[in-house]
Amino acid sequence: MGSLRTFYQVDTVITMTKTNTTSVGSPYIPSRRKDKIKFISFGLGPVGLLILQAAVARSDFELVGAVDVNPSIVGQDIGRLIGNNREIGIPVSPDLLPLIDGIISQNQVGLVFHATQSFLDQTTPQFIDLLSCGLNVVSTCETLAYPYRRYPNLADQLDQVAKSNRCTLVGAGINPGFLLDLLPIFLTTACQEVTGIQAVRNIDAAKRRGPFQKKVGLNLSPENFTQQIETGQLSAHVGLAESVYLIGDTLGMNLDQVVEEHRPVIADCAYSSAEVEIEAGRVRGVNSFGRGLRNQQEVVRIDFNAVVSSQEYEEIKIEGYPPVIWRNELGTAGDSATAAVILNMGKRVVAAQPGLLTAVDLSLPHFTRT
Ligand SMILES: NC(=O)c1ccc[n+]([C@@H]2O[C@H](COP(=O)([O-])OP(=O)(O)OC[C@H]3O[C@@H](n4cnc5c(N)ncnc54)[C@H](OP(=O)(O)O)[C@@H]3O)[C@@H](O)[C@H]2O)c1
Repeated sequence: MGSLRTFYQVDTVITMTKTNTTSVGSPYIPSRRKDKIKFISFGLGPVGLLILQAAVARSDFELVGAVDVNPSIVGQDIGRLIGNNREIGIPVSPDLLPLIDGIISQNQVGLVFHATQSFLDQTTPQFIDLLSCGLNVVSTCETLAYPYRRYPNLADQLDQVAKSNRCTLVGAGINPGFLLDLLPIFLTTACQEVTGIQAVRNIDAAKRRGPFQKKVGLNLSPENFTQQIETGQLSAHVGLAESVYLIGDTLGMNLDQVVEEHRPVIADCAYSSAEVEIEAGRVRGVNSFGRGLRNQQEVVRIDFNAVVSSQEYEEIKIEGYPPVIWRNELGTAGDSATAAVILNMGKRVVAAQPGLLTAVDLSLPHFTRT
């Protein structure tokens, strides 16, 4: 039923055709610790909007521009888009260009919150445009969380563009970017030896946003699910291999193979709620996992289960000395937590060294009351 994929490199170097962005500034350096970080929101789907809403609610960030290609929101005032009663005078721009001569060239922008697509070959042209304008970027792009294995050439290209424009690019989010990689890595701080890591995240797929439900194939027939996974029409969860490699490479585990698999969970009866209707015999969710092997032994395993009406929790087990078991019975609310991770890491990105970095390279991110 499942679809097993041995992980392999897929990228090529992207030659940019959109060259009308130029390096326009020196890096953004907040002059005082309490300066607001001026930001652009790039990508205003459900996740980009949550990040934007969370940022405008805080006193340490200030919105200066917004970009999205979706024609149904281009030109709309951000105030209206996030449900405020009043306009704030910042419309959604269809691309970066209208912003360059205004805010960007005056070095008013410290950070871009980026939330458009999952695969680095799709987002690299967007990152090159942003970095070429001297903008720091923190992105939800899953494959940016650890791009060096799936896309080594693009990673190298992005690192060079970031360094030559003296700005920083980081991929983050709740998963990948925190729960099943950064958090287990952090927990090994208390270990003298680590021989294996297992991390599980279980979510109720009914509670998640529409694009996510579509991505995991809810309500498809089992045959359609398998066929769409195999042809790449359906991605299911993206970033399993990135999390496994982030753990394995950071901890020096010398992984020689990483495998991803997605198995459909078929509804044995009908499920009906305010959010979703699932017919019996159709896909109720997905069990996805990534395995990191050394000498044919599994040393890293992460499981991400997104199934309608299932119990939410996360659990991390570290085998070693001393061993560690960490469990969250509440289950982390993925979308609002992604917004939090992006804002809290965003503050570290602005202060980080130039280049393409991962969440592990940043100084310890955390919430700060503002
Ligand atoms: N790392 C994590 O933990 C994490 C967590 C949540 C989400 N994510 C990822 O974050 C991304 C955003 O999530 P979402 O649910 O909001 O996705 P979405 O519904 O697809 O929204 C993406 C938005 O970006 C726009 N867009 C696409 N290409 C663009 C471009 N080149 N320039 C400007 N705007 C562009 C889209 O416009 P159109 O609709 O017209 O294409 C859409 O409005 C997804 O890739 C998702 O998988 C990651």
